[in-house]
Amino acid sequence: MSNTPSTTASPLRKILVTSALPYANGSIHLGHMVETIQTDIWVRFQKLRGHHCLYVCADDAHGTAIMLTAEKNGVTAQQQIDNVRKEHETDFAGFSIGFDNYHTTHSNENKALSELIYNRLKANGHIAEREITQAFDPEKQLFLADRYIKGTCPKCKTPDQYGDNCEACGATYAPMDLLEAKSAISGATPIAKASKHLFFKLPEFTAFLQEWTRAGHLQPEVANKLAEWLDSGLQEWDISRDAPYFGFEIPGESGKYFYVWLDAPIGYIASCQHYCEKNNLDFNEYWAADSTAEVYHFIGKDIINFHALFWPAMLSSAQFRTPTQVFAHGFLTVDGKKMSKSRGTFIKASTYLKHLDPEYLRYYYATKLTGGVDDLDLNLEDFVARVNSDLVGKVVNIASRTAKFINKNGSVLSANNPNPVLWQQFCDASETIAELYETREFGKAMREIMALADSANEYIAEMAPWSLAKDPANAQQVHDICSLGVNCFAALATFLKPVLPTTMRDAETFLNTTLQWNSTLSYLGEHTINTFKPLMTRVDVKAVAAMVEASKEEQTAPETSTAATESSNEWLTQEPIAPEIEFDDFAKVDLRIAKIVNAEHVEKANKLLRLTLDIGESRNVFAGIKSAYNPEDLIGKHTVMVANLKARKMKFGMSEGMVLAAGPGGKDLFILEPHTGAQPGMRVM
Ligand code: 2FM
Ligand code: ZN
Repeated sequence: MSNTPSTTASPLRKILVTSALPYANGSIHLGHMVETIQTDIWVRFQKLRGHHCLYVCADDAHGTAIMLTAEKNGVTAQQQIDNVRKEHETDFAGFSIGFDNYHTTHSNENKALSELIYNRLKANGHIAEREITQAFDPEKQLFLADRYIKGTCPKCKTPDQYGDNCEACGATYAPMDLLEAKSAISGATPIAKASKHLFFKLPEFTAFLQEWTRAGHLQPEVANKLAEWLDSGLQEWDISRDAPYFGFEIPGESGKYFYVWLDAPIGYIASCQHYCEKNNLDFNEYWAADSTAEVYHFIGKDIINFHALFWPAMLSSAQFRTPTQVFAHGFLTVDGKKMSKSRGTFIKASTYLKHLDPEYLRYYYATKLTGGVDDLDLNLEDFVARVNSDLVGKVVNIASRTAKFINKNGSVLSANNPNPVLWQQFCDASETIAELYETREFGKAMREIMALADSANEYIAEMAPWSLAKDPANAQQVHDICSLGVNCFAALATFLKPVLPTTMRDAETFLNTTLQWNSTLSYLGEHTINTFKPLMTRVDVKAVAAMVEASKEEQTAPETSTAATESSNEWLTQEPIAPEIEFDDFAKVDLRIAKIVNAEHVEKANKLLRLTLDIGESRNVFAGIKSAYNPEDLIGKHTVMVANLKARKMKFGMSEGMVLAAGPGGKDLFILEPHTGAQPGMRVM
């Protein structure tokens, strides 16, 4: 079941769209751009179809990290967030992200709304209070989150370990158990200190969320993932932080602030309200409990719990409407790997813009985007090839090959269509492509569009107007053929306008019309066009290399956590196929029958079980199969392991091999179970 109204027969829709709010302490990079480009394409599509669509965003300005960054930069928190906001807005504008409003969570609107929502939660009995004890930096007079405490592992004595677990031996502990624990901020020895905290009683919304998460507001794979979390029981959510903290003070409490994630999503409403007030609109039309407007949040898959659990629960308690749908996307990899500064693939938006046309990236991302949570790979070689082949070689080529004959001949198109079958193909595809945009299947939409471009190019090549034009007797035929070519180009330009706003604005100048995407495509008829000018140049491989080099040289560390760059551990991801290997490489893999002599849970690990395997010798292996197996059910079974994999130090200890498993994930993850009679240590062929 889907809540999305069909793109076709629907009357004018009133839509509000958001992208996740970037933190105000770091630069925008190509990971962020996956989301903003995806959202912007969708918004531009809705607007092109004639719907009323409002796109709002803001900087996420609160929290300890931003407070500390400001201090490090020697500026006030206000100056810090003002500077970053300017930089963010410039970067987004550089990529033609058409926000209707870009605000900040540190705003009057957001303060008032956060207080209103909190007061309603409290009045409804949904706020609990209790004391908790945390590590406290006596020098900075600051409570320390785990990532701000370092010390020596109490178990294996490895120095320089963070807050709650040891990277060397895998031990987990409370931050105060670290030996010689130090505050990563001041170097002081933390003390344990108790303070009162406020909690949002999320467990009281379990039944509501069980219903809401299955009511078509989420992608099916997201709803399935949330069902696992809901089944394992929700926890109360700590929404308060002690001073000093950069944020909004909690009404009725002194020295206590809203946790950044409490007021961040409220920033969506605040940005909408800010826009509405500037434009004499009533923001209640979007956010009142009985609103008939559609509200969509585009987010990365790492922040689903905030948007699909906490957020709808808060909104419903506070008598606001909940989102129509939350659209999660996957993470960005570059050349198949996590973005990396040393490889020069951690590319800032501003660096990209110094070297390459933003329209290239918009198109490339579009070819790779789906409606699901799949990760997206920016393969730099493929990027160059795809843009050059599709946009320059196919789409723009249609106009450049045909326009000159029209321009030479008075620039008025012929209304006589010499190939109605070809044109009908374009007309028939229009609504299919629209539906693909609506469902965020941009990759499929791009393939449909390029198939049409191929048909048009084949027709033009076959008719060869440049040869026909040599005989003046063919003048009318040449004119008709080339007019059809220009009409095909105009249709393609319409279909691509959400993706390539700048190029298609130039195309509109050439075509002397504003392109609209109506439910029926119309032939331009006897229409005067302007002189054709080249619309796009080829991607220069050297510019790509220069961008990578420049990124290597940039030293500033990323300080934001961003959906599109975090490695995914909880979500199924479609990895690109690795480079081809020779048979000899494969033969090096030593697969052995292993008997599972013990299996147990690993404390604090989300996915891992610790297996003790017998292959004639004993091996300790961590396997990410917790979602599918109870450890006790595995004991005594045989499986297949890679026996000659170099031992790896994992967060929870050494892993001495790898167990083979397959399946879509979650409960459906199957270890290989060879026929009984298999002997531990036997080689598998
Ligand atoms: O993960 C992040 O980058 C957050 N700043 C996103 C906030 S989205 C919304 F809830 F405000
Ligand atoms: Zn240790």
